[in-house]
Amino acid sequence: MAYTLDEFCADSRAVLKAAPLGDALPQVADRLARLLSNPAFVAETFSDDMPPGRRVLHHDPETDFYVLAHVQEGKKIGKPHSHGSSWAIYGNAREHTEMTEWRRTNSESETHAVLQAVSRYRLGPGETKAYGPGVIHSTAHPNKAWVIRVTGTDLDVLPRYHFGKQDRMLEQA
Ligand SMILES: [Fe+2]
Repeated sequence: MAYTLDEFCADSRAVLKAAPLGDALPQVADRLARLLSNPAFVAETFSDDMPPGRRVLHHDPETDFYVLAHVQEGKKIGKPHSHGSSWAIYGNAREHTEMTEWRRTNSESETHAVLQAVSRYRLGPGETKAYGPGVIHSTAHPNKAWVIRVTGTDLDVLPRYHFGKQDRMLEQA
């Protein structure tokens, strides 16, 4: 049977309550992949004429996670960032996200961050990945994409660590 948003939310709540975060996040990411492979969920969540933006599909009052639907504009490259003390899981419903994970190579006490790209990959339709607290990542969307993001809390109220142009970024050797 197709896996629904309600089932995903109930399962995610149960997993997040039962397991330590490091174990829970990959399990939630696997369940998000199941949800994304349900065409009925994708059809009721997104449509071709939807403009770029985001909507909250669910907020869990008990564990505080959010399920967000993003329509990502094409030809966009995001800056490296982390979500501070929260986590995020990304998954695609249509088109792909180009992901880069970064590692800071200098001391936190220095003003400017020196970042080194440590991993680059694509998240295509039905693919998901979890990013724990403090993991620095950046996204790019060559084409308009439909993305589901699950976050540990309301990220808008958390300090989000952007790494701007003043930071030196080292490419992977
Ligand atoms: Fe992010």
